[in-house]
Amino acid sequence: MIELDTSALDTSRLPTHVAVIMDGNGRWAQHRGMSRIEGHKRGKDSVRTIVESTRELGIPYLSLFAFSTENWDRPSREVNALMGLLRRYLRTEIKRMMANGVRVVAIGDVERLPSSVRRELEDAIERTRDNNDLTVGLCVSYGGREDIVHAMRKLGQDVAAGKLDPEDIDEATISRSLGSAMMPDPDLLIRTSGEMRISNFYLWQLAYTEIYVTDTLWPDFREAEYVTALADFQSRERRFGRVVDEAPQKVRAVRGR
Ligand code: IPE
Ligand code: IPE
Ligand code: MG
Repeated sequence: MIELDTSALDTSRLPTHVAVIMDGNGRWAQHRGMSRIEGHKRGKDSVRTIVESTRELGIPYLSLFAFSTENWDRPSREVNALMGLLRRYLRTEIKRMMANGVRVVAIGDVERLPSSVRRELEDAIERTRDNNDLTVGLCVSYGGREDIVHAMRKLGQDVAAGKLDPEDIDEATISRSLGSAMMPDPDLLIRTSGEMRISNFYLWQLAYTEIYVTDTLWPDFREAEYVTALADFQSRERRFGRVVDEAPQKVRAVRGR
């Protein structure tokens, strides 16, 4: 059980979907003279903390960018270690996920994962499918551009098969064809380790997401800073391209899709 100090938050105005680029594990380890892999191991504890905090806050959707399509180009030793950690994470966390009503979904090209990891992932997806307190989208072997390519291919096939009229393709059709179809667009994106970039994460989905970047490295990102990020989100004025001087309260209440 996570002890969350929510006194800085208006719990009636929390985001519906938080997405996280969990970055900085390698630097965390290097600063301590350890191997990068030790940083990934420590990062796992932050994953548990953030999943459980999200659940406790009652936020229904969380996306975790765990491994990108570009991360396959890292040294094989690191890739193998990350795959092993993912497999062990799924195996050890399943009990807590079941107890906490957490549903796991995979977003990305899971076919590319080693079969032992895929099996563990499919097992977690299957076992948690009826949980509905929090949906955690694990973005593994995920690339925003690849996601869009797959969506376009699918729509193209539907058009070719005569099942879809090109005139009927709208933003909702595209959103529904992406890996994140089961979730609304993120309201808040958190990136740790100070990098001011998206790194090919949710390209379509982040159109109007509020972005919070912290210098904290992922293994050090825990519940207190999560609350800080959420409080910062609540201080933002989301305009969605409109003007606010007329009815600011009303505009502020507007949410992403
Ligand atoms: C994030 O930490 C984890 C993955 C991308 C898999 P990094 O491994 O990118 O750590 P830094 O950015 O090199 O410190
Ligand atoms: C983004 O981090 C991907 C994940 C956190 C999974 P990277 O460390 O791969 O991104 P860059 O290389 O800094 O852009
Ligand atoms: Mg990085």
